[in-house]
Amino acid sequence: MKKNKFQSPTGMHDILPEDQKYFRKIYELCEEMANFYEFERIETPILEDTELFSRGVGIGTDIVEKQMFTFKTRGGDYLTLRPEGTAPIVRAYIEHGMQNLPQPLKLWYFGPYFRAERPQFGRYRQFWQFGFETIGEEGPVIDVQIIQVFYNLLKELKFKNLVVALNSIGCSQCRPYFKKILASYFRNRESSLCADCGRRLRENPLRILDCKEEKCQMVVSQAPQMLDHLCESCHRHFKEVLEFFDDLSLPYALSPYLVRGLDYYTKTVFEISEDSEEGKKVGALTGGGRYDNLARILGGKPTPGCGGASGIERILILMKGKKLRFSQSPFPKIFLAQLGDLAKRKSLILVEEFRKIRIPVSESLGRDSLKAQLNRANRIGAKFALILGQKEALEGSVIIKDMETGRQDLVKFEKAVEEMKKRLKK
Ligand code: HAM
Repeated sequence: MKKNKFQSPTGMHDILPEDQKYFRKIYELCEEMANFYEFERIETPILEDTELFSRGVGIGTDIVEKQMFTFKTRGGDYLTLRPEGTAPIVRAYIEHGMQNLPQPLKLWYFGPYFRAERPQFGRYRQFWQFGFETIGEEGPVIDVQIIQVFYNLLKELKFKNLVVALNSIGCSQCRPYFKKILASYFRNRESSLCADCGRRLRENPLRILDCKEEKCQMVVSQAPQMLDHLCESCHRHFKEVLEFFDDLSLPYALSPYLVRGLDYYTKTVFEISEDSEEGKKVGALTGGGRYDNLARILGGKPTPGCGGASGIERILILMKGKKLRFSQSPFPKIFLAQLGDLAKRKSLILVEEFRKIRIPVSESLGRDSLKAQLNRANRIGAKFALILGQKEALEGSVIIKDMETGRQDLVKFEKAVEEMKKRLKK
């Protein structure tokens, strides 16, 4: 088959009408959760200063090192298509003085993100995320509430075998010491690591824990664990998180090597995935954690934060295998059929009159066969057809046809909308 000249860019895709109902369902659930748990909507620009991500997400991360779409503007500045939402939201929090509002601030978002990754199943260069963030509260109860929001949302979408992977990666007190222990462990096994991990060993040994190479994972499986080296405050925080999980009967799996691919995390980190064959293929549906140092790193007052984000395409892939019910808006009760140029023009006026009083009407203005139009009126189950033929258009009248009884009445054009209002009320 000959390839079309134009195709969507590699790793980027169209969201076709048939997929919109999934997007809508996810959006509606996000809104429902946000209203219940009192999160307010925020949207930040698609482009941000490149430095926001190199500082916020971290120089040594794959995202900053390999995956950012960065442009030089005509003015010589560097802008980047946002690869994630947390750094931009904390930037907005600082920029708009939101620390002066009652804390914590609970924010949610829903939009496209960009990462120049190698395209593969469930991994795109433009993908959609929704996220929930709580800024200005350090208590462990917030970590649990954030995870609960995502867990409940996925449950509502009929996800069954959800696994919440949990870990703590400590804070600036205890992590540097752990990094040293880890570096020494890996240094003794450097020859068994991939070339990338050799570099990671010098830059940030924690990143080795995240490596997907089989030979590195073998070495990682025996590595020291952060959980055994937490300072007292991080230890207490994580213990309380686990106690809240037990209180809520929320299932979790301790994942001592979960570090996540972004540098801003402190203390709790988590990922949610579906334990099924398809679920393993798409990877994590949600990822997040606490980021108590991010506001300070971005130049604001030290402010704790915690949040997470879900990949909408990954959820959608798995949703398609589930029996979900979608609410469908009912078809309009009125169908407007027309014949001839003058009637077409008058039909446009009628459609506008109905719109103003919020009565939905269906039409096929592009069609010319009256029979085909009335067939459509039948198919969608319209109660009435308004027929504007050439004769009626010239005389300033409209035929109202009751589709059930077949009875037809002629009314004046100006009276048609009023008459329909009356009939629909009966
Ligand atoms: P993340 O783990 O990089 O975290 O992304 C969150 C979720 O977005 C992933 O679990 C996955 O479902 C989806 N995702 C990521 N990259 C892709 C991709 N290339 N294609 C399709 N889906 C993808 C963050 O972005 C953090 N900002 C989350 C967070 C919020 N942490 C604290 N607050």
